[in-house]
Amino acid sequence: MEHDVVLIPGDGIGPEVTRAVQMVIQAAGCRINWRLAQAGVAGLERFSTPLPDATVEAIQATGVALKGPATTPVGTGFRSVNVGLRLALNLYANVRPVRNMPGIKSPWTDVDLVVMRENTEDLYIGLERRVSPDHCEATKVITRGASERIVRRAFEYARNHGYSLVTAGHKANILKLSDGLFLEAAREVAREFPEIGFEDMIIDNLCMQLVRNPGRFGVIVLPNLYGDIVSDLCAGLVGGLGVVPGANIGDRAAVFEAVHGSAPDIAGQGKANPTALLLSAVMMLEFLGEKEAAARITQAVESVLGEGKILTGDLGGTATTEEITQAYISALATV
Ligand code: NAI
Ligand code: MG
Repeated sequence: MEHDVVLIPGDGIGPEVTRAVQMVIQAAGCRINWRLAQAGVAGLERFSTPLPDATVEAIQATGVALKGPATTPVGTGFRSVNVGLRLALNLYANVRPVRNMPGIKSPWTDVDLVVMRENTEDLYIGLERRVSPDHCEATKVITRGASERIVRRAFEYARNHGYSLVTAGHKANILKLSDGLFLEAAREVAREFPEIGFEDMIIDNLCMQLVRNPGRFGVIVLPNLYGDIVSDLCAGLVGGLGVVPGANIGDRAAVFEAVHGSAPDIAGQGKANPTALLLSAVMMLEFLGEKEAAARITQAVESVLGEGKILTGDLGGTATTEEITQAYISALATV
């Protein structure tokens, strides 16, 4: 079966890693009709807007997109395209599985957790104001509906993927109303899933526990900003941003993208690790029902990384994007 999928190459290393992923998917025998769309600086250059309507409409039409990272200027400039896209398509659940991969050095061997990040509210709505030249304020929005929705997703994910524990992170000791509401919603929803363990943890302690004993965690459900930060922390537990995939899921559309950004420090040098986006594409193939291709690509990735000969710089090797991509393609022939 052929699938229509929107492809957003994105900025920085985006075009390099998306190209690599397209090649591996093709080699796996999956038939995808890629519909090219632009976003980020690439969108700005071609359509004078970082998030062209045509891109949103294309994803609404196909329901599925694979997206490279989009650069967001720091301090000034346009609003994050990633945030814009998540809001425009109501992609309320950001799902980020984090696990040890064979061959990748890490102080841990038993990491197998999922960060379930709320994707539509919190400080991420970017509602800021300058009260005076020396005083700025930002609004943090937490609603019961969005909190219940993400926690329910977390429990459903735990049930469907065999995790026995859901941990809700928060700072309700300080943010008694906003994070307090998130926690209240989490406790309510937890009652619907008596077969799955539930705990809550104050976010700073959660970070400490994650660094000391990540193997104890299953699904970690978090408001947007904590989810963003904890995702990168968790990526660091298993070898870094080059190997951690992600998906933004709503009721009508899903956009698959790695946790990492556009990595301007290595862009255009052929050094980027395409694995994180490739594993995001594996999540996409599962979503599309292409379970066999998804499993084969996973096996190919694990066998190449496990051999430890062809690794990109972020994993301590010297391989180029091209070399690791070819290695994945060769490995596909043997799995
Ligand atoms: P980043 O994730 O782009 O890079 C952080 C570090 O990890 C850098 O040293 C980079 O070289 C390395 N790295 C990241 N991905 C890698 C890969 N695939 N292979 C090898 N090394 C990799 O984060 P940074 O530098 O904070 O952000 C850069 C830009 O990306 C910003 O404009 C930011 O807004 C944007 N961004 C976009 C995201 C998205 O589109 N979903 C997510 C995160 C950041
Ligand atoms: Mg992030």
